[in-house]
Amino acid sequence: MKVVPADERNLERAAAILRKGGLVIIPTETVYGVACDATNASAVRRLYEAKGRPTSNPLIVHVATIQQAKKLASRWPKGAELLARAFWPGPLTLVVKRSVEVPAETAAGLDTVALRMPNHPVAQEIIRTAGLALAAPSANRYMRLSPTRVEHLDPKLVNKVDLVLDGGSCGVGIESTVIDLSTAVPRLLRPGGLERQEIERVLGRMVAGTPPDGPARSPGMNNRHYAPRARLRLVDVLDEAQTGLTFDEPQSAKQIKMPEHPQAYAAALFDALHFLDKLKPSTIFVESPPEEPAWEAVWDRLKRASTEL
Ligand code: TXA
Ligand code: MG
Repeated sequence: MKVVPADERNLERAAAILRKGGLVIIPTETVYGVACDATNASAVRRLYEAKGRPTSNPLIVHVATIQQAKKLASRWPKGAELLARAFWPGPLTLVVKRSVEVPAETAAGLDTVALRMPNHPVAQEIIRTAGLALAAPSANRYMRLSPTRVEHLDPKLVNKVDLVLDGGSCGVGIESTVIDLSTAVPRLLRPGGLERQEIERVLGRMVAGTPPDGPARSPGMNNRHYAPRARLRLVDVLDEAQTGLTFDEPQSAKQIKMPEHPQAYAAALFDALHFLDKLKPSTIFVESPPEEPAWEAVWDRLKRASTEL
């Protein structure tokens, strides 16, 4: 059996596989990730291949302690220390200059590395048991919806990994917030599970956004991303006949009522889209959420998912 419960015995098994350079799908509090030893260049190459991901798109490295993170960084700025202390473990990824411990493959040739301490007992336990920093991109095929439950996993990806640990559904449900601290001005590269305002509060300064026409600081941030197979269209209100996500009472089995709180909405979003996508509609209609800062990450995912190729 490749998909197994994340119990103690299977955690040991997963750690042994990872130490030998294998690939294991693991739960985190944000989304499921496909993990390998971040310091093993050939394991990392296998991971890119399994995901069908261009090798120009760098990986997030997962750690269990701040000390472990510091070893992977050549510079650990004050902002990194402040944010790590305030929000780790949690849905926040810090981009800093990388140390020689991180192979070029993991960082897609950049001189930086993205680091995160996941707030999930299984993820933390595997990192500790394996004694490794783990590179773990979301466990979806390139450009598709991220999985928040093992049922969402693409069989093609499952085929290419050595083990899948089932840890139930991911509580946050949307990927981590990525912030670049490798330059003088902190920059938000990807809105996510931790609100920008929280970061600004701890840093005591505003955080710049990614300039839309600037150089691709975060090479993975293609406009089309997180996409279901169906087309996704934003609307004000769903029609009776439309398949999609609504804030009102659903009018058919093809409509899902979404929570009004942004964090609860984010936690339910990918699961709802995975569910509707299985019905094979040509279009999934989504009622636009409020245009408020707390909805930034949800808006980001909806806009990317509705971008045509
Ligand atoms: O919540 C998450 O972050 C999940 C779970 C599994 O931890 N992981 C995840 O990884 O979303 P992935 O590979 O799907 O997204 C990583 C993002 C990409 O947008 C990538 O471009 C950016 O982080 N990134 C990674 N390393 C970077 C670097 N050195 N500089 C700039 N951006 C980087
Ligand atoms: Mg991803």
